[in-house]
Amino acid sequence: MIYQKNRLKVDGFDVALLGQKFKTPIYCYSLDKIKNNILNFKKYFKKINPLICFSVKANSNLKILKEIKKNNLGADVVSIGELMKALKAGIKPQKIVFSGVGKTTKEIEFAVKKNILLINTESKSEILEIEKIARSKKKIVNIGIRLNPNTDAQTLSQISTGKKENKFGVDQKIFLRLVDYLKKSKYLNLNCLSVHIGSQILNIKPYQNMLKSLNNTIKKSNHKFEYIDLGGGMGIDYEHNNTKLDFKKYSKNIEKFLKHNKCKIIFEPGRSIIGNSAILISKIIYIKKGYNKDFVILDAAMNDFMRPALYGANHKILPYKKIKGKKIYNYEFVGPICESTDTFSNIKNFQKLNEKDFIVICDVGAYGTSLASNYNVRPKPMEILIRRNKVQVINKRENLSKLL
Ligand code: LLP
Repeated sequence: MIYQKNRLKVDGFDVALLGQKFKTPIYCYSLDKIKNNILNFKKYFKKINPLICFSVKANSNLKILKEIKKNNLGADVVSIGELMKALKAGIKPQKIVFSGVGKTTKEIEFAVKKNILLINTESKSEILEIEKIARSKKKIVNIGIRLNPNTDAQTLSQISTGKKENKFGVDQKIFLRLVDYLKKSKYLNLNCLSVHIGSQILNIKPYQNMLKSLNNTIKKSNHKFEYIDLGGGMGIDYEHNNTKLDFKKYSKNIEKFLKHNKCKIIFEPGRSIIGNSAILISKIIYIKKGYNKDFVILDAAMNDFMRPALYGANHKILPYKKIKGKKIYNYEFVGPICESTDTFSNIKNFQKLNEKDFIVICDVGAYGTSLASNYNVRPKPMEILIRRNKVQVINKRENLSKLL
């Protein structure tokens, strides 16, 4: 995204022309960005040669999943719906892992039938359920156990998953008991230890602590794990101030870990693959005077993009048209939904904006459309993808009549 003659362009396309042609709000993805992110990810972890399973919850658009498949990634899924979509996108079952704390009998049966690479379990009850299904189908099913390493991911509390008070995984004591149980199981093959401590992690330290905890648990378990699934969580630079996770260091730490533990590494990245690949183009409906700021009322709302309302997440907002003049305006960018949390950002010292102007909200590729809803009976937004010099509609705007 760059300004040319003070107009915002995305991969060569004028943002206002896209807005006029397709109407707003629109999610606009850049295929180049997605490919680059994948290339970079592969490059950083080249020495480890991991199996990279894209976390479908971050973005489940079928066309996007097909692009991801073309780049040889597998999938990390958490529901039968996501599993079906990954398969529909052509991702091979042998590259699919199934995570989540509450898989139902129907979901497990489907996963077993499809012979996916592994099911990462999160409780004794779930293990017993899978064993029952495996026995009835006379099949040996590969499973992992998710360890809760009690590690603080130093990220937003709402997206932390690796502390003992979180619902995810099992603690070391239970983990070791489950390993012992599974050593005697005829139908379950324990071939993976999985872990995922949280999302939007920018500091290497939590990952280092996590690896320490894994080392310790593996030693105590006296079990040879074919796979270690390290989950995802790699953070991106939402603030645009070069705050990045040190991928190189993380890779080095894992290389060291592999010296003691010979196994294949699985990653489940979502945000780091897709997060910065999309913008949300929106039009200003009205601007209204507030008490000590002006409200910029957009045609995009929390139903289109939920992260700011749900987590207080900050996403950069850019005007389509850059104008000269004093940046003296204090704006709160809000949607039209009847909730005070339907707000995107409070920005001080912004340039002047006008009603009907276009603006963009940055870095909405991950947990954008996948979290969108129909709240206030609002149709879900359209999605377009810029592929080289073409614009492709990858999801039509939801038809209002479908909601009636
Ligand atoms: N693996 C597991 C088991 C997960 O639970 C998650 C994310 C991932 C992988 C992918 O994590 P990533 O690489 O994308 O950080 N809606 C929130 C994020 C929730 C993340 C849930 N789990 C947000 O918008 O920040």
